[in-house]
Amino acid sequence: MISSKQRSVRMAHIDKAKIIDDIRKKQTHVGVIGLGYVGLPLAVEFARAGFRVTGFDIQQSKVDAINQGRNYIADVADDVLANLVRQQVLVASSDFSLLSAQDAISICVPTPLSKTGDPDLSYILNAQQEVKKYLRPGQMIVLESTTYPGTTEEVMLPELQEGGLVVGKDFFLAFSPERIDPGNKKFGTGNTPKVIGGVTPACTEVVAALYSGVIEKVVPVSSTRAAEMVKLLENTFRSINIGLVNELAIICNLLKIDIWEVIDAAATKPFGYMPFYPGPGLGGHCIPIDPSYLSWKLRTLNYRTRFIELAVDINMGMPAYVVQKVADALNSFGKCVRDAKILILGISYKRDIDDVRESPAFDIIRHLREKGGHVSYHDPYVPELSFDGITLKSEPLSRELLSRLDCAVIVTDHSNVDYAFVVKHCPLIVDSRNATRHLQPTPKHIVKL
Ligand SMILES: NC(=O)c1ccc[n+]([C@@H]2O[C@H](COP(=O)([O-])OP(=O)(O)OC[C@H]3O[C@@H](n4cnc5c(N)ncnc54)[C@H](O)[C@@H]3O)[C@@H](O)[C@H]2O)c1
Repeated sequence: MISSKQRSVRMAHIDKAKIIDDIRKKQTHVGVIGLGYVGLPLAVEFARAGFRVTGFDIQQSKVDAINQGRNYIADVADDVLANLVRQQVLVASSDFSLLSAQDAISICVPTPLSKTGDPDLSYILNAQQEVKKYLRPGQMIVLESTTYPGTTEEVMLPELQEGGLVVGKDFFLAFSPERIDPGNKKFGTGNTPKVIGGVTPACTEVVAALYSGVIEKVVPVSSTRAAEMVKLLENTFRSINIGLVNELAIICNLLKIDIWEVIDAAATKPFGYMPFYPGPGLGGHCIPIDPSYLSWKLRTLNYRTRFIELAVDINMGMPAYVVQKVADALNSFGKCVRDAKILILGISYKRDIDDVRESPAFDIIRHLREKGGHVSYHDPYVPELSFDGITLKSEPLSRELLSRLDCAVIVTDHSNVDYAFVVKHCPLIVDSRNATRHLQPTPKHIVKL
């Protein structure tokens, strides 16, 4: 039922031109729900552009950190965050009643997979409940979390309209996929084009006006479903191409051809080719997960996404492939994994960041431990690691440590690791990232993917 407060404001008619004018004058209050890798940089970008921003999170430690001006996301500059908090243009809260004071609300909560590999929308549903509770006429709601096509209109819209407010007239709803690339020094939230698809043209128009205030280029599309699909196309494209090149690495290995040399030579073609590189498996909160959102949706329509599933299979097999390489390499030195001292170099899922979510390093460590290996690790970005009931600490990369090892496995090629030093002092190296490419010809104690 529509409340009397909602009705009286609605009677005053939502003036779209006034909303857009408020955006231009930076009088729009912006709320960001979920202050993680995506939400905090977005909140900072809005605040830097002159909007008043309130960030919401269920983790009190993040709320407290922000309100004390303490940054915890590597892509955000510490002094920028501290200044915005000092100027009181950026505040954080776990009190969701403050949502009613926001004119625009961007939702940046996690979208993981459940234990059975299906989409877990519980974070979106929880955030949506809070938004629904405080929804008032004139508000813009933007879902940014990656999800399957249909989520915004099939899951969010009916709930938000339940109170009687009408989308496109009383409030505005859009999907706009987040495209951040953690650790990317060239492209951040502000200069990465932003795709926006509203439920109605008016939704697209006001949300595009809002994001134009902080992002260099916005790209409107005709619907929320198209915007949702854009993100899945981008990430499925990566997953499938990485799957292809991972399989080519296995093929080249059987044919005794150096896959890295082949890729570098192919990449000299100035058209129609884009290099992808093999590795120990996929990681992060996007590429290993998002294509499964699409597969799941299509299963509900009795369609099997064969390309996607094949790539997932190949990519998920890579940690075991690396472990086999380690076992074979040790074997060629007359050793076995049992009781071998093995150092994992790099735990985070990609170079020069601290994000360990879904990192293939976990599976590699797990398999090696199951085979009786003594596994330690070094990662300048990950001082401590707890999983499967064990806690490990990053070992300092000393000559003593390296020379005591039976094998080091390069899982993530951080640029602040001295690989020449590793190669000099370690008796055996399995390099799954071609981090030792500078050494030509490849020394006999280095095994590549
Ligand atoms: N990390 C990336 O590189 C990346 C890139 C593009 C898209 N995405 C997508 O963006 C979304 C967010 O990812 P992320 O990496 O920022 O996740 P994250 O885990 O870093 O951050 C999410 C935050 O949301 C908070 N949260 C959870 N439920 C909440 C609720 N009900 N109310 C308020 N806060 C809540 C969590 O406490 C956490 O701080 C996901 O859908 C992800 O797929 C991530």
